[in-house]
Amino acid sequence: MSPPRKLHIKSYGCQMNVYDAQRMVDALTPEGFVETANVDDADLVILNTCHIREKASEKVYSELGRLRVARDEAASHGRRMQIAVAGCVAQAEGEEIIRRAPVVDVVVGPQSYHNLPQLLARADRDGRALETEFPIDDKFGVLPQPAPDAIRARGISAFVTAQEGCDKFCTFCVVPYTRGAEMSRPVAAIVEDVKRLAENGVREITLIGQNVNAYHGDGPDGRAWSLGRLVRRLAEIPGIVRLRYSTSHPNDVDEDLLAAHRDLPALMPFVHLPVQSGSDRILAAMNRKHTADDYRRVIDRFRSASAVIAFSSDFIVGFPGETERDFSATLALVAQIGYAGAYSFKYSPRPGTPAADMPEMVPAAVMDERLERLQQLIDQQQSAFNKAAIGRTVEVLFERAGRKPGQIVGRTAYLQPAHVMAPDSIIGQVLPVRVDSLERYSLLGELASATSRPADAMAATGA
Ligand code: 5AD
Ligand code: SF4
Repeated sequence: MSPPRKLHIKSYGCQMNVYDAQRMVDALTPEGFVETANVDDADLVILNTCHIREKASEKVYSELGRLRVARDEAASHGRRMQIAVAGCVAQAEGEEIIRRAPVVDVVVGPQSYHNLPQLLARADRDGRALETEFPIDDKFGVLPQPAPDAIRARGISAFVTAQEGCDKFCTFCVVPYTRGAEMSRPVAAIVEDVKRLAENGVREITLIGQNVNAYHGDGPDGRAWSLGRLVRRLAEIPGIVRLRYSTSHPNDVDEDLLAAHRDLPALMPFVHLPVQSGSDRILAAMNRKHTADDYRRVIDRFRSASAVIAFSSDFIVGFPGETERDFSATLALVAQIGYAGAYSFKYSPRPGTPAADMPEMVPAAVMDERLERLQQLIDQQQSAFNKAAIGRTVEVLFERAGRKPGQIVGRTAYLQPAHVMAPDSIIGQVLPVRVDSLERYSLLGELASATSRPADAMAATGA
């Protein structure tokens, strides 16, 4: 047998890319590849790129410049290093990458990772290979199935793709162009993945998709199932104690999903629900198809379904034409909702999106200043939310050993890291923790006895 070839994947961007990196490993393992953490050792380097914000493609070209040096160094020792570009920059700018960067052997879009072995063979034969087509012969409109090994256990918490792509076409966003039309995996395929993960020790599943609550996969009864219905089915799988989903669009929140939050203790009361702006004028220009009040109403519906639910969001500051008044509406919305955390970004024009051609770019200094103010407000809310846990008992799913000897780390329902001193045997269990203090974003505490005030556990940090 030939010695294993070494594979290094460098991932940027979202959870979908982290998950996809694993899909690439799974496609390449049968070809004799093993992963290496060291780029210079690798026989194949894959840049798993992200196109969502800022100078994504420039970053890729400068990274490729560095890889050319590493490749030449390997060649001087008689070793061949192949280089592939994957992810959303590959999808959006594949042809240009092939033209501009002769160092690249393979360009592969997210829909084609299962073909990586063939693409490498094609590159060997023809010099280069490019595959960024969306599958059009896909008669069921389903995603390619992950290879069986894609569902090996990788710890206590795992991501499973439920849905991919987006049909919303927010004017700032590249996702509908790079990830294509919205597609949902069939219920049976997801159930199968989750069962296998649970059998391998996984206790928490996060269903992912660019617009995951638009989920409408084929159910075993031949009908399209909603996300709420899917979650209900997954909650029945033995071993699965926590379920989450990300990322959601406010317009796709339906009664099934709210009912799932009301009825299922396994569905965590923490929802990432991006709003992007609090100004109706900007929301319209963004083509979000909802107003700030529509969003407030969706939040209220969640809160009626579960009193302990908490939210995070994404915001864009400095969208073209955003005035101080528009921005104040965003601050007012944040102040009113009260988030457990949120991400905020400066607007960055993405080539090919409608907003990129809009006039009235907001000056960089104004964007900086708005971002600062928004982040300050969000930070205050996040620390208040975290502080509210002190002195309470919260449920923690323990995931791994911590940095200090004897320390075990887990997460609360709201994804707050929590640290206790305890034996390794608690890994994989949900246990009540009495929170004593905060260290930056982490909760420090002690295991409480399982019988102590269980009703308090969920209500703990519902700020
Ligand atoms: N500029 C700035 N932020 C963006 N996002 C998406 N596109 C852009 C852009 N062009 C942000 C949105 C989205 C998150 C994943 O990234 O807030 O919700
Ligand atoms: Fe992009 Fe999300 Fe809008 Fe879809 S819903 S276009 S992924 S921002």
